[in-house]
Amino acid sequence: MDHVSYSNAVEEIKSRCNIVDVISAVVPLKRSGARFKGCCPFHKEKTPSFFVSEQTQFYHCFGCGESGDVLNFVMKYYNIGFPDAVEKLAAQYGITIDKGPADPNAQKKDVLYDANKKAARFFFGELTRHANPGYTYFKGRGLSDETIRKFGLGYADDEWQTLTDAMKGQGVAADVLTELGLSSTAKDGRLYDRFRGRAVFPIIDTKSKVIGFGARIIGQGEPKYLNSSESSVFQKKNNLYSLNLTRSEIQKEGFAILVEGYMDVIGLYQGGVKNVTASLGTALTEQQARLLKRYTDKVVLCYDSDNAGIKAAFTGIDVLRGAGVDVRVMQVDDGKDPDEYMKRHSRDEFIDLALNKSRTDIDYKIFIISTRYDMDDTKQRVKFLEAAADVLRALPPVEQDVYISKVAADYHFSEGALRRQVEEGGKSAAPVVERVRDPESSGDAPAPNAAELLDPAMLQIEKNIIRLLLLDPSYLQQLAGHPDAIVSPQGVRIRDALQKLAASGEEADISVLRDSLGDAEANYLDEILLEIPVGEKDGDAFADCLRQLDIRRAKRRQKEIMDILALDDGTIDHKQLDGLMKEYTTLERIQKR
Ligand code: CTP
Ligand code: MN
Repeated sequence: MDHVSYSNAVEEIKSRCNIVDVISAVVPLKRSGARFKGCCPFHKEKTPSFFVSEQTQFYHCFGCGESGDVLNFVMKYYNIGFPDAVEKLAAQYGITIDKGPADPNAQKKDVLYDANKKAARFFFGELTRHANPGYTYFKGRGLSDETIRKFGLGYADDEWQTLTDAMKGQGVAADVLTELGLSSTAKDGRLYDRFRGRAVFPIIDTKSKVIGFGARIIGQGEPKYLNSSESSVFQKKNNLYSLNLTRSEIQKEGFAILVEGYMDVIGLYQGGVKNVTASLGTALTEQQARLLKRYTDKVVLCYDSDNAGIKAAFTGIDVLRGAGVDVRVMQVDDGKDPDEYMKRHSRDEFIDLALNKSRTDIDYKIFIISTRYDMDDTKQRVKFLEAAADVLRALPPVEQDVYISKVAADYHFSEGALRRQVEEGGKSAAPVVERVRDPESSGDAPAPNAAELLDPAMLQIEKNIIRLLLLDPSYLQQLAGHPDAIVSPQGVRIRDALQKLAASGEEADISVLRDSLGDAEANYLDEILLEIPVGEKDGDAFADCLRQLDIRRAKRRQKEIMDILALDDGTIDHKQLDGLMKEYTTLERIQKR
């Protein structure tokens, strides 16, 4: 083992480890010319567009744009921070890091973790050492003493200082208690307990640190659940409940059941379904999806079947899919949530529902949509077809093809009709694009590309341009040479109205202008007036905007070229390739002008 200082470790890692070895250990790579290529681990794809270069020691995905060096890869793939990534690679390559003076942040975090642990012990003691409403509550919900111990459940009484006093007695500082959200400060400066009269669920991360608490009111009251404050040790968006206990089960079973609440996790676990976890009362985040993906790439969502649950499932599906996770959705057929279900059913019954009676994510979405329409009514059926097509349109080609057949069969549509709706419907159905074809808009602008309209950066530039036009209509002359400077249909109409006003010689008063506009344009105008600060009216501002537009367009086209090259399976001939390369270089130059 070689001993190096922390700062040298990074250099040492970069010089010793080969990015191709590190990545190919987890992503199958094939040599492709001077580089290696494979399916991107950061987004779902069937055609490899993820490239790793041995020469430059960088990776780049032309599909999702993810790129970086070996440390970036390790951070992103394992969902860990920079220091952890350094340590991980150092360990793999036999580099021992002599830690200099300990990181003051780490020390501070240790103090917070320690205080949380003390609080968790205290709440647990309160629950288990003598009779109390918390224990009665958990027993009433069917939990065994063993389950209570396993999850370290606790009780916060309804006095005002029980925890605060106990923690102070154990040497925990006041600012630590408030930072963690265990105590709050009263007007007179005294501390009081934040969790009162609540059943307490400690939240423990995969390194076994108590990072926070969820606390449920006993009986009625608001809020039903109260959480620890967000702090350097507790970020809801980065953690999932109970993974400390269940991640090995998830790995073992090869899939995870994702539920809504603490009690669902605990109820399932006690009933023998241990490959379970829950997001912490929030919509599932990308970070949570990546965290889960460290243990499995198959997830079965089991949310409540109420509207909130359905909404959460739709978001969960999109987020998990985005992380490259295979998603199914199940519903319990008895009780409102999995916790209730488990009181009357066995583990095997639940697993049967999860594996054999669940729907794929897409089937689920379409099914839910179908319940919103009266399928005996022709008009409604057409509406359903359109909505289903919207879901299918977002899918990669092969999957889309499979589902078009399946949905057509399931809901008795002609496959051709559904296919046409998927392929063409989007163009006329999507509202933004619809407005592009509006006959009212003036004819001189080239048909704007729909993708540009959805690019917030483009719209931002357009708004700046319009703001400048409002400030000084003489810019209209410069604009004349740039018919594609304004892309949105509302923008085009505002421009045309301004031109008319200018031609009539009337003063370009904003209220006069507004009167000549329709609602959509007037709203857009207000948006611009509110959002865009009045800048310096210097001569360059306008030219700058036009330049930014050119740069933005060049960047978009470059990305497109990259996509074309990445997806090429040998059909691009030499001449085309040459043309694309030249275009790419020209685009590069446009940006440097
Ligand atoms: N939740 C929350 N704040 C609320 C309601 C819910 O943070 N006001 C979170 C909790 O993590 C909760 C989950 O969302 O566990 C699911 O909500 P719900 O179904 O209401 O909670 P259950 O755990 O089923 O609650 P109960 O104790 O009533 O079974
Ligand atoms: Mn519930």
